[in-house]
Amino acid sequence: MKLPVVAAAFAAAFLTTSAKAQDVSAGERSWNKCRACHQVGEGAKNLVGPQLNGLFGRHTGAVEGYSYSTANKGANITWDEAVFAEYIKDPKAKIPGTKMVFAGIKNDKEIADLTAFLKQFDKDGKKM
Ligand code: HEC
Repeated sequence: MKLPVVAAAFAAAFLTTSAKAQDVSAGERSWNKCRACHQVGEGAKNLVGPQLNGLFGRHTGAVEGYSYSTANKGANITWDEAVFAEYIKDPKAKIPGTKMVFAGIKNDKEIADLTAFLKQFDKDGKKM
């Protein structure tokens, strides 16, 4: 009776792939919470907040032409997944004095999905 094992393995592989695909689309829905103030993608502009292309690996306050608060500019943080997760839960706690007015996202799964969505974009806003 090998068949059920193979079928189970196949189902598991399938579920893993589709769960990943969902992460990005769930992240795109979550991104709706940011779009009033941020753009990402090719040709993204600074709005109320800076554009977020190539965020992961980027230093705080690094977008040219955007007028950051001294708090954000001086935070001396390089954005990685862990720092971003901490920040987006409660921006004012991570960077006291930030002018980003956002209550935060508390749900870890939503943060992971949003991270997957944002990670698609390189520094030129092209999907990697
Ligand atoms: C009401 C407007 C607003 C909303 C909504 C908002 N932001 Fe911001 N965000 C800002 C502003 C303004 C700044 C600049 C902060 C500063 O200079 O103190 C900022 C800064 C940031 C930074 C730091 C960027 C850098 O270059 O250092 C990140 C990361 C960020 N926002 C992510 C997000 C994400 C992700 C969301 C959605 C979940 C979001 N923001 C929602 C206004 C907003």
